[in-house]
Amino acid sequence: MKTDGTQKQIAVFASGNGSNAENIIRYFNGDDGRSDTGRGARVALVVCNRPEAPVIDRARRLGVPVRVVTRALFNDPAAMSAMLDEFAVDAVVLAGFLLMVPAFMTARYAGRMINIHPSLLPKFGGKGMYGRHVHEAVVAAGETETGITVHLVSDTCDGGDIIFRATTPVNPADTPADVEAKVHALERAHFPAAIDRWLGRL
Ligand code: GRF
Repeated sequence: MKTDGTQKQIAVFASGNGSNAENIIRYFNGDDGRSDTGRGARVALVVCNRPEAPVIDRARRLGVPVRVVTRALFNDPAAMSAMLDEFAVDAVVLAGFLLMVPAFMTARYAGRMINIHPSLLPKFGGKGMYGRHVHEAVVAAGETETGITVHLVSDTCDGGDIIFRATTPVNPADTPADVEAKVHALERAHFPAAIDRWLGRL
């Protein structure tokens, strides 16, 4: 792993379970079994808006600092700028983060902030489409495939440029829980490496 001044500092924003945050931390730590010598980034900070969220312990166990924010703090430009400066954050990854990102932050990280959405956007995106709701809608619509979409964060909910997609079949007998498990498997397999490739292009 690079340790000089060119190593990029990532902040992961997460609200809940944090399986993606953990995978990303492990990948960039090189302790996920997929380590190589070229990783030019590390997770410097996890930001969470729910004090009881499992992601907090997951990150702390892996030695990553966590900041728990209220909605008010998250929307305070001075407070958030100070926090992101403290950790010299170059790029932001939203991984199951449920607050809207304020305009000052999308402007500060224009082209340097991405989100993962658990469907093939633009399908099943937008307001109210998060977590299990997405997979229930996919099953109800009789879709034959779904997947994950990694996209730049803009001021339009789920609307920024797409940088990566991966798909998985949906079978007629699949329940929303089955679809969710398939989507989590895609996230595990692809999201950290997709972040790595994207960071390499910044
Ligand atoms: C993931 O399915 C992600 O795609 C979506 O929210 C879920 C978060 O899961 N944005 P976890 O908290 O990373 O386990």
